[in-house]
Amino acid sequence: MDTGKKGLFITFEGADGCGKTTQINLLNEYLKNKNFETIITLEPGGSDIGKQLRQILLHHDGFVSKRAEVFMYLADRAQHVDAVIKKGVEENKVVLCDRHIDSSVAYQGYARGGDIEQINLLNELATGGYKPDLTFVFDVDSTIAQQRVGETKDRLEKEGLEFHKKVRFGYLELAKKYPQRIKVIDANKTIEKVFEQVKKIIDEIL
Ligand code: TYD
Repeated sequence: MDTGKKGLFITFEGADGCGKTTQINLLNEYLKNKNFETIITLEPGGSDIGKQLRQILLHHDGFVSKRAEVFMYLADRAQHVDAVIKKGVEENKVVLCDRHIDSSVAYQGYARGGDIEQINLLNELATGGYKPDLTFVFDVDSTIAQQRVGETKDRLEKEGLEFHKKVRFGYLELAKKYPQRIKVIDANKTIEKVFEQVKKIIDEIL
């Protein structure tokens, strides 16, 4: 892990309904109590331009080309890295980011059937090679995750169980490929038990 630079960039990943947003908030409180300066941000939608892209990506009612979808997530990411993430890390902050590069690989790659190598390359271009220091993947049984999402679903949450099983598989493959960066958290457990796992990893780093 690169501890030589200022601040930290931590990403939170997992299928819809994995509970990562709750965990981000818990970690944020934990870090603030330890006197770290933090920023919570998200993709899509972590920048001003990103907010407009998020609206299209999650709520556009009509045909969205698979390629257009990929590029909109990437445009959001490029703007987010340059306008928000790097700046935060340079200001010595811990940037907690809800979804990032691995979402494109899991969703547009593994679940939608896009070419993984191409998506990796596009991610590289979008971020200028800037990488998270640490990534948590919240792994949860797909049926449980679907129940957690509830009735009000956005465009991607409306994809069925098979789609979300592929997303989950994709994340586990990514974790196997990048074991240094990506830590898998068993998110089938209670909120407290899940956070215990997060805390253990964070305490080892700080
Ligand atoms: P969001 O409401 O932020 O979902 P969650 O709370 O589950 O993170 O919506 C983000 C949606 O966009 C989510 O379904 C995953 C999807 N997504 C992609 O398909 N590709 C990407 O690159 C990113 C960042 C998100």
